[in-house]
Amino acid sequence: MTKTDLLTTDPLKRKTSALILGIFEGEGTPSPLLSAVDRALEGEIGRMRKNGEIRGKAEETVLLPTYGRLLARYVLLVGLGKKESITPESLRKASGSAASLLRSRNLPEAISTLALGTTDTAGSVEAIVEGTLLSLYRFVAHKTPKEDAPYLLKTFSVAVEKKTESLAASGLRFGEVISKNTILARDLGNEPANVATPTMIAKTAEEEARKRGISFLSYDREKLERMGLNALVGVAKGSDEPARLIILEYRPKKPVNDKPILLVGKTLTFDSGGISLKPSDKMEQMKGDMSGGAAVLGTILSLADLALPVHVVTVMPATENMPSGRANKPGDVVKAYNGKTIEIINTDAEGRLILADALSFGIRTYHPALVIDVATLTGAVVVALGGQALGILGNNEGLIERTRKVGEETGERGWPLPLFEEYFDQIKSDVADIRNTGSKGGAGTITGAAFLRHFVDDTPWVHLDIAGTAWVDSNEAYKPKGNVGMGVRLMTHLVKDLGEHPLTAPKTAAPRRVGRARRA
Ligand code: BES
Ligand code: MN
Ligand code: ZN
Repeated sequence: MTKTDLLTTDPLKRKTSALILGIFEGEGTPSPLLSAVDRALEGEIGRMRKNGEIRGKAEETVLLPTYGRLLARYVLLVGLGKKESITPESLRKASGSAASLLRSRNLPEAISTLALGTTDTAGSVEAIVEGTLLSLYRFVAHKTPKEDAPYLLKTFSVAVEKKTESLAASGLRFGEVISKNTILARDLGNEPANVATPTMIAKTAEEEARKRGISFLSYDREKLERMGLNALVGVAKGSDEPARLIILEYRPKKPVNDKPILLVGKTLTFDSGGISLKPSDKMEQMKGDMSGGAAVLGTILSLADLALPVHVVTVMPATENMPSGRANKPGDVVKAYNGKTIEIINTDAEGRLILADALSFGIRTYHPALVIDVATLTGAVVVALGGQALGILGNNEGLIERTRKVGEETGERGWPLPLFEEYFDQIKSDVADIRNTGSKGGAGTITGAAFLRHFVDDTPWVHLDIAGTAWVDSNEAYKPKGNVGMGVRLMTHLVKDLGEHPLTAPKTAAPRRVGRARRA
């Protein structure tokens, strides 16, 4: 693993393979550092800019050999876009692009100067570290021969001003921890379903939990049957691979919250669709249908690694969805853990079945202050939002807005969709309390969430549909093709934020007094 550190002294006085410098789009006075580097390179950067050879466009990269005129062997220029539109996400993307160039040249060390002059030091340093480490990730577990092993950046230093050192150190720590656990989530998502089985995921969760003093529990099928998690057991019935309900609890010594925060992640290790079988095209991608579970796992591990004082419980319902003589059949009715009966119209709408039991079991067992569930739940969210945003739905406006805001800040963006009363009519059943798919076409992401709403009662709840964002089909700045490890960054920051600033009671209808008291 790459060693990351801070550099609080002059970056020009340190030997390195590559010095990373940002270039903004448009005119404007270059920073003193950029001017000094340009002088050392006899005005080459200025010339290139004048000729339009570098323009500072987002993610543009150029590698300039210094031929001994600087202590760094190369200067790596990376475009940052317009100065006024710089965000942690643009730093993350720029750092990802820079790291890809480092990789292609096999350069073993780098100093990034992109945090210098930014206002939010902690956020900038975190983004730079994440962009770099996440960009260098490759999934090579099954590649032979091993020459294909990933390139290793040995040391990566982030230059910061001495006076911002402690904020920078916290940003660095967040960046390292979140990257490491995002990579763990990516690995689980990229592993094929014959490797990342419910058993294997439980074992991984147990080992990782043990290292951090997180408590671990796992229930097998007999126990789940006895406890009445029949919706989960029903989905698992069609598969020969044993199902698990995996529960982790991180309870810090002095938690800031008196009731825990509950995280529930869909851990469907392979979704064939069951009897309502999916088309074969791209079915192999359904090994990633456990990305929600990987995200909650990566999140609780991050919270523990960062020693954040928030009491958190994660529940991961883990199973395959397969066709067989024992599989759920369209028309079957099951009684869920909370007693509601469900008519299964389409066995491919299995995520909501396993989440239904995981949600109501988690809520009844742990009495959380709030619950967040994350799932690759619907193809419809791909239609609605594509790869640019995850779907946010829930029963609490305050929690939805907080989620949207943290999404914006962390670059794992989401956008709210409505849960109007009328949508609930679409999941009424003729023979049971509810059915698992909408009776009319349309609004598939919403009817999925409406279904889940039946299993959370009045606990503040937010549902994240990551089916469109959990994997990418081609390389992006810091997302190599494959599983993204989506949600670890968003939920780590969201849970920290919700621990530090609990949800306030929903606004009542009574008018709020503003300024002077109103006369009757
Ligand atoms: N795992 C899928 C959703 C999915 C689709 C994830 C595409 C990633 C990419 C889920 O279990 C599913 O099959 N949903 C169905 C629901 C439908 C039958 C109501 C869907 O979206 O088609
Ligand atoms: Mn499905
Ligand atoms: Zn699924």
